[in-house]
Amino acid sequence: MTEQLTVDDLRRLDRDHCWHPLFQHQQLAEGAAELTVFERGEGSTLYDAEGRAYLDGYAGLWNVNVGYGRQQIAEAAFEQLKRLPYYPHSQINEPATRLATRLAELTPGGLRHTFFSNSGSEANETAFKIARQYGQQRFPTQRRHKIISRYRGYHGFTFGAMSATGQMARRTKFEPLVPGFLHVDPPYCYRCPLHLSYPSCATACVEEFDEVIRREGPDTVAAIVVEPIIGGGGVIPPPDGYLQRLREICDEHQVLLIFDEVITGWGRTGRLFGCEHEGVAPDIMVMAKGITSGYQPLGATIVTDEVFDAFAGETAERREFAQVCTYGGHPVACAAALANIDILTGERLWENAERVGDKLLSGLTALS
Ligand SMILES: Cc1ncc(COP(=O)(O)O)c(C=O)c1O
Repeated sequence: MTEQLTVDDLRRLDRDHCWHPLFQHQQLAEGAAELTVFERGEGSTLYDAEGRAYLDGYAGLWNVNVGYGRQQIAEAAFEQLKRLPYYPHSQINEPATRLATRLAELTPGGLRHTFFSNSGSEANETAFKIARQYGQQRFPTQRRHKIISRYRGYHGFTFGAMSATGQMARRTKFEPLVPGFLHVDPPYCYRCPLHLSYPSCATACVEEFDEVIRREGPDTVAAIVVEPIIGGGGVIPPPDGYLQRLREICDEHQVLLIFDEVITGWGRTGRLFGCEHEGVAPDIMVMAKGITSGYQPLGATIVTDEVFDAFAGETAERREFAQVCTYGGHPVACAAALANIDILTGERLWENAERVGDKLLSGLTALS
């Protein structure tokens, strides 16, 4: 039997052996900070090992969309673990097939084909690699490889996703980054980087995409990636019409539009997906976090027929997507995602997010 550990034991062992994200460990050694030992959760309440209760305002890391303690998800994962804990997605497993089908039904526009991975970063890497390989195969005489994103945007911690990220604090210590990633200004009306104001600005920030594509040459640009609402970079919704105009710019230059819905997906913004606020659909959508509400790690990259079909050809042509992911399409993660999505859609939780979000916004506005 495993020996019982006290809270002090856990803190000591953790201090000696764990490396926490974005955290100065010297504070622990000096006793200037103490990390919390969380033990269990119920709904939106967390309990620590010393019996204190906390309101989990962030919902984990913006991902526990259905709340803690949902037995339905635990049971779905347990049943799948007993039946078939793993087989690579080079073959079929039922939860992955059912989940890909569900994603095709629930996502907007013509998104229909999903490549599974383990995290938001990996799902973005997958999107960028799809966009580059698509660029080579769809436009063989061109050099479509550049990916344009925004300052303040966040797309993950791996090298490609970090190169698309526009937050200097997450990048500079790891430079040089991946070549071919460009950035434009964010649609940040409150502190407009262009010193303009909406609507007289005519949404000049979105026109920067058009300008950069023209300057670089459309035949060098593979994709644009944006979060429909910037999350970690400040919770910045774009002005009305921004995403629609972005769609037009992409169509005009035959550049793929990637929406990173890792935070905004699965109900957090008052719609099932953030891009639904403007009725705009991407060519590629990236999901993670709320797809399982954190009960299992899972990333998903879903594309349209038009993108998928560029990978079709005779075997000898080697047009298939040149990527493999050991745990992509993991049956247990996909079973958890299906149970999570059943809860989310059954309870229409995005409507609750809209109600509570309106209440919070009007309360904060009254204070300002
Ligand atoms: C918009 C966005 N994309 C991608 C990621 C990366 O996801 P992960 O941490 O699962 O790799 C995050 C993480 O916070 C995110 O907010």
